[in-house]
Parts: sequence; C-alpha cells; structure tokens
Amino acid sequence: MPHLFKQYNLKNLNTFGIEAYCDNYTELYSIDDLKALMALPDYVSSKKLILGGGSNMLFLSDFKGLVIRNCLKGISIEKNLGEEVLIKSAAGENWHEFVMWCVKHGYAGLENLSLIPGCVGASPMQNIGAYGVEIKDVFEELEAYHLTTGQKQVFSKEACRFGYRESVFKRELKDTFMITSVTFRLKKKAKVNTSYGAIQEELEKMGVKEAGIKDVSEAVIRIRQSKLPDPKLIGNAGSFFKNPEVNEETYKTLKASYPAMVAYALENKNYKLAAGWLIEQCGLKGYELNGAAVHTKQALVLVNKNNCSGQAIYELSEHVLNAVFSKFGVRLEREVNIIS
Ligand code: FAD
Ligand code: EPU
Repeated sequence: MPHLFKQYNLKNLNTFGIEAYCDNYTELYSIDDLKALMALPDYVSSKKLILGGGSNMLFLSDFKGLVIRNCLKGISIEKNLGEEVLIKSAAGENWHEFVMWCVKHGYAGLENLSLIPGCVGASPMQNIGAYGVEIKDVFEELEAYHLTTGQKQVFSKEACRFGYRESVFKRELKDTFMITSVTFRLKKKAKVNTSYGAIQEELEKMGVKEAGIKDVSEAVIRIRQSKLPDPKLIGNAGSFFKNPEVNEETYKTLKASYPAMVAYALENKNYKLAAGWLIEQCGLKGYELNGAAVHTKQALVLVNKNNCSGQAIYELSEHVLNAVFSKFGVRLEREVNIIS
C-alpha cells in the first residue's frame, strides 16, 4: 500500500529547485501500488500530477492535489528480430542510465539522446530530442493506465501523435494517463547518426575516425556538458522555449534584415529559427530579474540563479517572449510544463 505524505516539499524533486508543497505525495513501485492508490477514497476527488525526474516542469505555486512519483523499475529484451531488438523499460528508470545500458549492450538508436535528464516514462510526453534524433525515430509502443478508469492501454507510435516536442499526452490526453513502460526498436548493428554538425566537430577533437555508438554518446555528453547548465549546480529545465517555426515569407523578410540569423529549412518548406539566437540578439543573455536569469552560455535556458520563486521564472519568460516579439515579430512558445 503506497504511503501518502501530507504537505510534501517538492524542492528536491524538480530541477528548477523551486520550493512548492503538494497536499499529498506518494511513490509507486509497482502496478499493484497504482491499483491500491486508486482504491483510496481521496484518490478520485484529488487533482493529480505524475512526476518523473521533475526536469521539465515549473511550479508556479503549491500544488493543491496529489503528486504521484513514478518509480517503476526494470529493463527487458522483449523480442529479438534479426537485425533489430525490442527493448522495454519501466517508466521510472532514469533516462540517461537506460541509454547507457543500451550503449553498453551495443543496441543502437538512443546514443544521440545521452545525458538528457529525467525518466523513461516522460520521454514520450514531449518526444524528447537532441542532436538529430527524436524518440519517435526508435519508438515501438508504450503502456499506460487511465488515471480514472484504471484501464491499461497500449499506444502505438501513430496513437502518440508525436511532433516536435509534442505528443497526444501533452495535448488532448494531458493528465489523463500514467505511462508505465516504453518499448524501443533498436538496431543491433550500429548505424550512427552524426548529421548534427557539432557531433562531427567533437568526434574530430576526440580523434575518432570511424565512430561507433559509444563515441557518439561520448561526443554528445561532452557537447552538452560544455553549454547546458547542470541542474545540480544551478536550477533549470533545459530549453524553456521551443524553436519557432515560420513560413518562407517571414523567414526571407527576417533574413534580409538579419543576415546572421540562425535557421534550418524544414521539409514542409517552413523554417525553424534558433530561439537562443533570437533571445541573444535582444541583449538578454545573462539578463536577471528577481533571482531568475537567462543562462550566460545558452539563452534558451532560464535558470534559478538566486533561490527564486516559480513565479519569478515565469515573469522572466514573459519578458523574454515580449522582447523577442517586439524585435522580430515572432512569438515563442514555452516548452516547459507549467504547473499551477
Ligand atoms: P517531469 O519533469 O517529471 O515531467 C514532465 C511532464 O511529463 C509532466 O507534465 C509530467 O506530469 C509528465 N509525466 C512524467 N512522467 C510521466 C508518466 N510516467 N506518465 C504520464 N505523464 C508523465 N528535453 C529534450 O527533449 N531534449 C533535450 O536535449 C533536453 N535537455 C535538457 C537539459 C537539461 C539540463 C534539463 C534540465 C532538461 C532537458 N530536457 C530536454 C527536458 C527534460 O529533461 C525532458 O523533457 C525529460 O523527458 C523530462 O523527464 P522527467 O522525468 O524529468 O519529467
Ligand atoms: N544560439 C545562439 N545563442 C544562444 C543559444 C543558441 O546564437 O544563446 C545558436 C547556436 O549558436 C546554434 C543554434 O542557436 O547555431 C542552435 O543552438 P543549439 O545547438 O545549442 O541548440 P538549440 O536549438 O538551442 C535544441 C534543443 C535542445 C537540444 C539541442 C541539441 C529545443 C527547444 N532545444 O537547442 O533541447 O539539446 O537542440 O539538439 O529544440 C531541451 O529541449 O530542453 C533541450 C535542451
């Protein structure tokens, strides 16, 4: 039977390090724990929040409800399919440790996603991505439990409706399911993806000529450590905003005024703009407001510089949104989940 902790401080359970209390807090170690929790009288009436590693959420205030931390563990090989293999991980496994397990066993596909904080169960939420790979590229299926009916449901890739930092769980099915496991289709023979420029440069620095998955993983770790702030040292949730997509006409107009603007052409003829570049051009790198700040090495990341409140981070994000909109006419969208 899972224990309910009253008035629980979530400060050490979110990587922004924001002090926020919830009415009730519990940890689940098995599906039986979930079923027992759902049978409690208070469960139905409580507002619920599923917590993984807390690395993509911002608490604006105390949470008036039940926070359920998913601690389900276990990694298994589900099926050997010749050149491919299906690997299933329970939702509470640490993402980076899971990636390292795959790399160690020679299963290719996740190495570009090394060192992303958080748990496996949250990875489909925003279709996590980095250095040229998103989980949709290797996703097979996931299992989830409906938080009201307790019914188990299997979601295929199509059912997850993955997009850039998007899925059905962030939109239509927000706060409806608890993801309990995710299965990935990985390759037994390494086919590395070094298309992201920075990886090739890093591999050259490392003196690697024919990269394997361990090398790619190591290169990604080095790049990430060089520019992204370590949440253990300074509170943050990675990129606070998404990179915005604009149509060709808007791109051309902006490019004519700002020839140095960083942008990538998309298959649908639109362009993705580097939000970090836009924010930096507004002179906001290092900008500080009530203890919240724009990171000095990566302007897309907002940090808790001086033990600030969630509200302070949010106000800083408003300031950044407004500054980018007035200078470029482009509206940024928040990537981080705002919890109020
Ligand atoms: P949480 O923050 O705990 O939760 C995020 C959301 O998912 C919440 O809405 C929560 O309710 C929901 N949720 C969590 N677990 C479950 C579950 N089992 N079932 C249902 N809902 C659930 N992201 C990237 O995509 N690419 C990056 O390169 C990247 N770099 C980062 C770097 C740093 C330094 C940091 C701090 C963050 C970075 N992130 C990145 C963001 C973050 O790590 C990912 O979004 C990660 O998947 C969040 O996992 P989590 O377990 O911490 O989720
Ligand atoms: N840039 C600037 N100034 C800055 C930051 C970036 O000019 O302050 C420029 C860089 O010089 C580069 C471009 O913007 O030319 C892109 O920068 P970077 O390679 O650091 O990637 P990003 O677009 O800022 C995205 C993801 C990251 C992911 C990296 C690597 C989003 C919202 N962010 O960042 O994901 O790790 O690419 O693939 O898509 C996250 O989601 O939390 C996250 C960290």
